[in-house]
Amino acid sequence: MNDRTIIRGRLLSFLRKPESASDEGCYRYENDGALVIENGRIVACGAYAAVRDKAPEGTREIDHRPHLLMPGFIDTHLHFPQMQVIGSYAGGLLEWLNTYTFPEERRFADAAHAGRIATEFFDELLRNGTTTAVAYCTVHKTSADAYFAESLKRGMLMLGGKVMMDRNAPEGLLDTPEQAYEETKAVIAGWHGRGRNHVVITPRFAITSTPEQMEAARTLAGEFPDLHIQTHLSENHDEIRYTCELFPEAKDYTDIYARYGLLGPKSLFGHAIHLSEREADAMSETRSVAVHCPTSNLFLGSGLFPWRTYERRGKPLRIAVATDVGGGTSYSMFATMAEAYKIQQLLGERLNPLESFYHMTLGNAEALSLSDRIGTLEPGTDADFIVLDAAATPVMKLRMETVSTVTEELFLLQTLGDDRSVVEAYVAGRPMKQSLSPA
Ligand code: GUN
Ligand code: FE
Repeated sequence: MNDRTIIRGRLLSFLRKPESASDEGCYRYENDGALVIENGRIVACGAYAAVRDKAPEGTREIDHRPHLLMPGFIDTHLHFPQMQVIGSYAGGLLEWLNTYTFPEERRFADAAHAGRIATEFFDELLRNGTTTAVAYCTVHKTSADAYFAESLKRGMLMLGGKVMMDRNAPEGLLDTPEQAYEETKAVIAGWHGRGRNHVVITPRFAITSTPEQMEAARTLAGEFPDLHIQTHLSENHDEIRYTCELFPEAKDYTDIYARYGLLGPKSLFGHAIHLSEREADAMSETRSVAVHCPTSNLFLGSGLFPWRTYERRGKPLRIAVATDVGGGTSYSMFATMAEAYKIQQLLGERLNPLESFYHMTLGNAEALSLSDRIGTLEPGTDADFIVLDAAATPVMKLRMETVSTVTEELFLLQTLGDDRSVVEAYVAGRPMKQSLSPA
């Protein structure tokens, strides 16, 4: 069957990281643009007239004008079992984890519960235009099975991992070093490379893993060098203090992970707010990724991510952006970058709209080493893209009357947009959002 389709709209895709707010060479924009998609891939991208001329007579067309076509958003750090934790009233990270998060995560031993929440989770990602995410499941293998089964069903490129944690958490939420090793291997055998699934080695953070379990993580990383690794790093001062007490031989928090061989270009470190110069060097030398989670950092009072300081170093850090739901307070990458912007304002810095949208798409794809597949509209990549309406609400519609450039439109989407601005989300060429059951 030839399922070739022309998708028409205003087209925007980043080619590289923007150097400034007026860097017009960093993106491709077509006011009357089109994609041609076939068998889940993008096969052409450009001006509508040119694309139309090359397409065979009778090729199906879907017209999304006047809306924007962009690559699907990528969320590089969130917790699928925290859907019923989001918005919990807590003082700071450790209180939030112990009071709300750990008790809730225990429920994911139940396959039926894990399956129900996985369905809700994927619906919510798509509602918000997120077509790829990197998630923590829980310590239970059942949670990873539910997550990857749902991803396979929807044909999405998703990353995730069974959490490894063997101390400092309640009963019912602990494994052992051996169990973490065996079950992670079982999740890899069952799901990695099946459909578009990627399994991630996931020691939760150094507080909840014994040295023996950190060794197990090292062994897994050695056996599966292509896999991503995710954990949390330097989120909050109490957390840092406690972590360093647990590993007195380490130079600092980052050095704990380094000692177990967990730094590297496929390692994703959630938060990484309060790094010393030495730690930042260790991160950049290994090309490890600092994952900025702005709504979470504000909600839990964790700190202000020193984005420009990390970027202006002789050896800049690789930076990704993420929601960190349920410490984060929104599934939307718009809200995420709106808060990232405000954090930089508080630090006396500016984050321009081109950078924001670059990071939600191509930037996050590069941080995941997946930009050959996702994050752009380049021919040959997977047809994961979204349709955005910057006039989706009365407030936005009114404000749009005074907007005259694409950059201004992006900033409006970021500042005022939410899931209502996401008209459609295509996954491997298939429209997924409009067919969701109503919220
Ligand atoms: N550190 C360890 N676990 C978590 C978590 O679930 N959320 C956040 N924000 N930080 C963590
Ligand atoms: Fe997190």
